[in-house]
Order: sequence, then C-alpha cells, then structure tokens
Amino acid sequence: MDSVLSPLDLTAREAPDGPVAIARPHRVRAAATWFRENFPGEVFYAVKANPSEWVLDALWEAGIRGFDVASDVEAALIANKFKDAQIAFMHPVKSRRAIGRAFHDYGVKTFALDSEDELDKILAETGFAKDLTLVVRFAVPGDGAAYPLTRKFGVSPEEAPALLRKTRQASEEMLGVSFHVGSQCMKPDAYRTAMDGVNRAIVNAGVVVDIVDVGGGFPAIYPGMSPRPMIEYVNAIKNGFEEMFVAQNAKLWAEPGRALVAEAGSTVTRVELRKGDALYLNDGAFGTLFDATHLNWAFPAKLLRQTPSRAKLAPFRLYGPTCDSMDAAAGPFMLPTDIQEGDLIEIGSLGAYGTAMGTRFNGFGETVTMESNDSPWPSMYGEASSVVALPKRKRAPRKPKQA
Ligand SMILES: Cc1ncc(COP(=O)(O)O)c(C=O)c1O
Repeated sequence: MDSVLSPLDLTAREAPDGPVAIARPHRVRAAATWFRENFPGEVFYAVKANPSEWVLDALWEAGIRGFDVASDVEAALIANKFKDAQIAFMHPVKSRRAIGRAFHDYGVKTFALDSEDELDKILAETGFAKDLTLVVRFAVPGDGAAYPLTRKFGVSPEEAPALLRKTRQASEEMLGVSFHVGSQCMKPDAYRTAMDGVNRAIVNAGVVVDIVDVGGGFPAIYPGMSPRPMIEYVNAIKNGFEEMFVAQNAKLWAEPGRALVAEAGSTVTRVELRKGDALYLNDGAFGTLFDATHLNWAFPAKLLRQTPSRAKLAPFRLYGPTCDSMDAAAGPFMLPTDIQEGDLIEIGSLGAYGTAMGTRFNGFGETVTMESNDSPWPSMYGEASSVVALPKRKRAPRKPKQA
C-alpha cells in the first residue's frame, strides 16, 4: 500500500482520478486496544464494517482473535488469513451451503439463529455436530440507535422461551443469547434494557445460558452525534450482565464493527464542479459515502490546500458521480466559501461502512488506498483506562428445567 505523511500530500502530487481511501491502521489498533483493556469479555470484530486487509492485520496485531462473519465468504477470508482465529457466523439467516462450507471447510462452530427452521438447517448441515455453540438472537428495542436494526432479525420475547428450550436441547456444547441494539447506539442504557428483556425470556424458559453476546452498536463520533464516553457503555453492560440468570461461568461477548474502525478511515475526493452550495464529487452514495447519502448523516470535511483557505466556512451539499438522484448528501458539510473545481476534500470518520459499501455502479468506484500516520479526527479513545475484571455474579443461576 502506498503511503502519505498526511492526506495533504495528495495536493502536491498527481492524485488518482478516483477517490483515495485513507487507511490509518494505528487508529484501529488504538480502538482494539481500548476494547481489549476495558471490555470485560471477548471481542468479535464484525468483519462487514470493513473487511480490508489492513484493518484485519491491525486488529490481529492488537490482539483481537474473534471475528463475527455474515457469510461463508467472510468466513473464508478470516480462516485463510488467520489460522487461530475464532470465527462466529452471527447472521441469523444463512443458506444451507454457507452453513456447510463454514462448518466443514473453515471450522466454524458458532452459529446464530432466530427461528426453529434455521436451527434445523444448522443441525442438518453440520451433521448434528455435538460441539456447536448455538446463539439465539433476540429482537430488542432500537430506540437508542441512530440506525435501528429492529425489524429484520430477532426472536420476539413471546416466542423466545420455546426457541431457547429447543436450542438448549440441541446444543450439547454451549448455548448463547445475542441481540443488536442498533448501529450507532447513543444510549448506553439501551444495552441494559436489552439485557433485562433477554433475561426475562431466559427465566421463563428455565434454561442455562453459557454466553451473553451484546452484539454491535458501539458508537463513533460524527458531527451532531457526540456519544457518551465508551466506558459508560461498558459499565451499562457489566451491570446488565451481573443481573442476568445465566451460568456461573457464563461468558460475555461483543461484536463491535463501527467502533473499531470508524476513526481509521477517511476519503479524499475531488470537486468536479461547483454550483452554488452544491459540490459534485468523484465519490458518493455508491462509493464510500453510503451513510452520508442513504442515512443523511453529516461527516467531518476539510479542504486540502497547501496554502490553507482564509475564507469563512459555509454549509455545502454534496453530489456523487453517478446519474442517480439518490447520489446526494445534504450534510451539511462545512467548507470554505472559496472552494472550487479541482479542490480536494477529505471526509473523515469513514472507516466503518465506507469502502465496504462501494460498488462499480455507473463505472465509478475504483478507489486507491493509501496509508497515513496522522490522527486528524476526534477520537472516542483517549488514555486507555485500567483493566476491568468480569463482574462477580450476585445470584446463583436457576437449575435448568431438563426438557
Ligand atoms: C450480527 C451483527 N453483529 C455486529 C454488527 C456490527 O454492528 P456495529 O457496526 O453497529 O457495531 C452488525 C451490523 O450490522 C451485525 O449485523
């Protein structure tokens, strides 16, 4: 991978015609180290957030060994790269072929499910293996999240006890529960609320649960979205876990995606045309600016010029290069009023769901990646605080009702 001292260097050389994705592996390592030192359980990186080699390498260097995959393709990526990785296939709906491949070809033993039919598929495709870890995904409220994920997956609280009992019977090894509070969760207590709901279902089912997986949702900093400190999320989870009726030695897992990589990526994009407050760029909705366009989130932006502009900042809208009218981001993106065609802009905090979302729609999307060692954007991770031990359980777990 080519490198620059900072993205400003691109203004002094012939920049590629397409956008440049800036990779900051040191920011991935900082986030991963923070989670390893502060999250009192095992961290499974949600590969979908950014499956780039440089991200995976930085996570591995920082000691992350768990990977949450959504497909057999992601399972292959991790299994071929890291022989000792722990891979969890946490998509609740998988094709039979993907289950079989993950299990037989890539050694995956951990599978999520949210229905009896999916449980039957997993059992059949793994030859009724005795060493599976089966994780029941719950539907939980998503009202704390900037991007709720409530509707598509998860067993309802009413149907959960029956599914838990059936899965417990099938899983001779480990039974887990999981949920997703929604991406970019702005309320630490959302985890606590979700855990309380899941706990009620566990009590109703009368089963012993070995793993509580709190999913993803941990936030990053974006304009207009300043999350509470990450330690408050960890503390809410610790408190929730302490109150749960699960096995004495139950494990706590998390599957952060965004929080581990958002700060580590940005995009340098060129202004191809200016019309008033609208800037037409060489990157957009079908490139690395998916969340800026589809979710209408504002991202930090700055003009890259050797001699910094002295013009005042004003709100701009952005348009991507394709002919699709959805290829537009309202922002607002605060940029100097003298911005013009040919200027390069850096758009920050795009490490999560940025390059990962890119397509070749309209023939665009060719993105060069360059490494940079600078840290220009706000961070959730200051000084890593001291190691937090797993909480002591207050009450003994209920005896399992043997079904
Ligand atoms: C099962 C699962 N786990 C983890 C994540 C990562 O979520 P986030 O990026 O919000 O941390 C996702 C995202 O969609 C997911 O579907």
